[in-house]
This record gives sequence, structure tokens and C-alpha cells, in this order.
Amino acid sequence: MKYAEITGCGSYVPPLLMTNDDMSKVVETSDEWIYSRSGIKQRHYSHVSTGIMGWLACERALAAAGVLASDIDLIVLGSTTPEEICPNTASFIKNELGAVKAAAFDLNSACTSWFYGVNVASDMIKAGSIKKALVVGSERLSLAMDWQKRESCFLFGDGAGAIVLEATDQKLGLLSGHISCIPNSRECLHLPSWGMSPAHFTNDIFISLNFEGQEIFKSAVKGMSDSIATVLERENLTPEDIDLFIPHQANIRIIQSLAKRLDFPMEKVIVCIDEYANTSAASIPLALCDALADGSVKPGMTILTATFGAGLTCGAGIIKWGDTVAPAKLSNKSIPEFDGTVFDLMKDSFSHYRIDAEHLLTKV
Ligand SMILES: CC(C)(COP(=O)(O)OP(=O)(O)OC[C@H]1O[C@@H](n2cnc3c(N)ncnc32)[C@H](O)[C@@H]1OP(=O)(O)O)[C@@H](O)C(=O)NCCC(=O)NCCS
Repeated sequence: MKYAEITGCGSYVPPLLMTNDDMSKVVETSDEWIYSRSGIKQRHYSHVSTGIMGWLACERALAAAGVLASDIDLIVLGSTTPEEICPNTASFIKNELGAVKAAAFDLNSACTSWFYGVNVASDMIKAGSIKKALVVGSERLSLAMDWQKRESCFLFGDGAGAIVLEATDQKLGLLSGHISCIPNSRECLHLPSWGMSPAHFTNDIFISLNFEGQEIFKSAVKGMSDSIATVLERENLTPEDIDLFIPHQANIRIIQSLAKRLDFPMEKVIVCIDEYANTSAASIPLALCDALADGSVKPGMTILTATFGAGLTCGAGIIKWGDTVAPAKLSNKSIPEFDGTVFDLMKDSFSHYRIDAEHLLTKV
């Protein structure tokens, strides 16, 4: 029996910060309100595309695994914000990496995209059709924020995280994964106009998130709990057998509710929503990279993960970690920084949504 071990992780976090105080200069809100409702203190906004962020995260994951790009059989990009649909953005990452023999496809199930991708790639490795895969979550959701909607524009940030999966005979990697999609729940988290439609023949297209925060909150906790129960049962485990929990980072109160339902101590839960906000498909691999870097992931750990996103899609998985917790190598690749402030970066987005941000613009 083959398994799909995670042998390397890499991430890219854009350098420009949008703090809650910055946010309060654009919409009527406050650090106190945002932090107490969501656990978010700041988010990073990207000056480069989803593909470029994803490429650098993959370079770093390959270096950490000590694997050559030319040995990769498959690249899956999980993203809601690929800069191109045709050709797909995974093929851009493939070419930048020089992953000559890799198949490449994008997968969109919103915030669960990376985890859906991990399930697909792990199952292909377990079935024997491929040996090595890169699964990357990369998102540039800052471009999808409606600055007229204070109830949602603070929630999201940009970034990318990637893992290398390699075939092994040892019982490691995603032992059980469960992915699902809750029936008739598409409308409670919806980005109308994000995709091809006749509306594109008019000039005035506004991408604007429609969402029912409390409805999503309840469905997310229930959906993730159900998926967790499924994978625990499949592996014949209880929450006491779990060493570390790495959940999707959408709201600290969602994470706390989930931990409470599982009767799982928050000390064993990885939380980075304060720093990155919700980076959608990038959120779990970013959290995993941070957990490896700060020593929270230890050899042989049994790790639980859980996720949800628009659809509403859900999922959970049990990951068995191997011996490797330190990177084999560090990549020397980088992305040139942006010459300006976060308000310079976002000025076209602000003016598109009719926010007068002239007074915020200051050149560094
Ligand atoms: C968005 C979320 C943080 C809001 O928290 P909440 O406790 O549900 O807050 P509510 O929406 O009930 O709003 C409470 C009040 O704050 C106000 N408010 C909304 N946004 C605000 C902001 N940015 N700043 C200040 N006040 C705000 C509302 O107008 C409302 O005022 P009212 O009571 O006078 O009507 C929470 O619902 C959530 O995280 N939901 C899920 C998030 C999600 O969809 N994530 C993406 C899925 S992957």
C-alpha cells in the first residue's frame, strides 16, 4: 500500500500590511470591533499575482523537501482568485518552476480548495498513478474586496502556501480525508460576477461579496464537526489521540467553537488569523508552514485539519507526520518588493468602489 507523505512546505506572505487601524481609515470600523468579532489584527495585501505568489511558495516547498521541480508529476493550484482561467494558472507555476513533466490544473472550491487538492493528489499517489505532487493554495482576495461593505472587507488577506507530497510505503501523510458540500447553501457566501456571464459586456462590473455571516458561522462549525467525526471514526481515533489541530482560519470564534465541541484544548490549536486574516485556500498551508517554523510540529505527530468555504464546501483530514520537521534547504528565490504604501497599492481598487482615498496616499 502506498501513502503520500508531506515532505516539504513553503509559503509566501506579501510584505505590505493593512492593519485594522488602516482599515478604519477606509470604512467605518475600529480595531476593537474587528479584533473582538473575528480575532483579526491585520492582513497582508499582494502587489503580485496569485500565480507569482504560488510559484514562490512552491519553490520554497521544493527546497524544503529537497526535490527537483523536474521530478514533479502534478501541480494542483487551489484558488478562488487565479489571474487567468484559460490557460490555467497552475500551468504558469509549472513553467516558472521548470516542472517539465508535471500535469497542472486549477481547483476551485473556495477556501477549501487547497484541502480538496490535497485529497485528490494524495489519492492519485496512493493509487500509484503519480509519485510526486505539489499542492499550492494561493489567493489575492484583496482584489475582490468591496470597500462599500464594512461587514466583509476586513475579513480577507493575500498569501500562498504549498506542500510537496511524495509516495512512501510508510503509513504517513493524509491517512483519511473527507470532503463535502452542504446542499442548498450556495447563496450565503457568494461572489456574483466573479466568472463569465453576459454582465461582462457592460463596463460597470463590481465584484461584491454577498454573505450571511451568522448563517455561515453556524454551518461552518456544524460542517467541519461532521467531517471531523467522519475522519476520526475512519481512523478509529478520538480527539485525545490528536497532537495538533490546524483549522482553516476564518474567524477565531469559529475555531474556538469547534475546539469546544471537540473538547480539544486551544493550546494544541494553531492560530494565525490575527496576523494573516482569512487567506482562503492559502490559510491551512500558511498555518502549517508557521507551525513547522516555530517547532509546533514534531516528528510522528497525528495532526487534525478542518476547513470550510463557499459552496458551502467542507472537509477534514487526519495527517500523520514523518520524521522531517526541518527544511532540507532554503530557496534563494524572491519577489521584488513594492515601491509604495498599502494605500498606493490599493488606490485603483478604492476609486473603483468610489472611496475617496486621495488623502491616504503617501509615497514611501
Ligand atoms: C463577519 C462576522 C465577523 C460578523 O460578526 P457578527 O457577530 O456576526 O456581527 P453582525 O454581522 O451581527 O454585526 C453586528 C453589528 O456590527 C455592525 N458591523 C458590521 N461590520 C462592522 C464593522 N466592520 N465595524 C463595525 N461595525 C460593524 C453591524 O452593522 C451590526 O450592527 P447592528 O447590530 O447595529 O445592526 C461573523 O459573522 C463571521 O465571521 N462570519 C463568517 C465569516 C465568513 O463568512 N468567512 C468566510 C468563509 S471562508
